[in-house]
Amino acid sequence: MEIIININNNKAQIIVAQNDKNLCGEVVERIWKLSERSIKESKRFAISLSGGTTPKGIYSLMASESYRHKFQWKFIHLFWGDERYVPFSDEKSNYRMVYDSLLAKVDIPKSNIHAISTDAEDPSISAAFYEQDLISYFKLSRGELPRFDLILLGLGIDGHLASLFPQITTAAEKMSSQLVMATLGGEPNLPRVTLTLPVINNAKNLMWIVTGASKAEIIRKVLGSNSKNKNLLPKHVLLKDGQTFWFLDWDAAYLLFSSANHS
Ligand code: 6PG
Repeated sequence: MEIIININNNKAQIIVAQNDKNLCGEVVERIWKLSERSIKESKRFAISLSGGTTPKGIYSLMASESYRHKFQWKFIHLFWGDERYVPFSDEKSNYRMVYDSLLAKVDIPKSNIHAISTDAEDPSISAAFYEQDLISYFKLSRGELPRFDLILLGLGIDGHLASLFPQITTAAEKMSSQLVMATLGGEPNLPRVTLTLPVINNAKNLMWIVTGASKAEIIRKVLGSNSKNKNLLPKHVLLKDGQTFWFLDWDAAYLLFSSANHS
């Protein structure tokens, strides 16, 4: 099922899948098509991966027999939207989650993998290194923002995205001239490194991937027709010039269609 809604005049497409399997199929087919178009146009596809648990199924499908040989990995550059500040061997590491579900199974050049390092003494040093990687890959001039071909985002039940948490004033992030910042929070509550809001809002394409009944209430607050709560961080994710997709399973989406949403 597909519905189109306007969020603050920013067109977003909501695709509701019956279950996680169908959702992964929808998402991966669109990622593949986007990659083919981008590689045809610019000989590259720069994607920022989301962390957490939701996207595991997507990365595994990308690495499966059905897709492993369809993706043109030599033109695809993988970045992370955020990282928990733990060793890559730690099960809480977003790098490890992507390695186990995708990197270990596909033939992608090592130079195409732009991980957020977590071995510097301080996360802000790691943020600075990652920011340098973005500047050199995207050949940015001073003050310019990277423009990812696709950014994947998950959503926390508190409305956090990447490792930007509601208690960090969005004003600070909006004004932030940084591309990458060190933060603290989340579940697990850890020091983290994350892309900032201006970078996310500069993407060509953005895919939110949200599943499970635990996310139904936050989805209603963010996407529901009666949602007036402007303070929610996801309300500040508005692409300047790009297409936003919300991929939801029914468990996460059902409150959008319940009477409660129209009361
Ligand atoms: C992280 C993520 C974070 C995640 C949401 C949803 O490192 O924790 O990047 O933003 O996307 O917390 O997480 P789940 O997919 O595990 O629900």
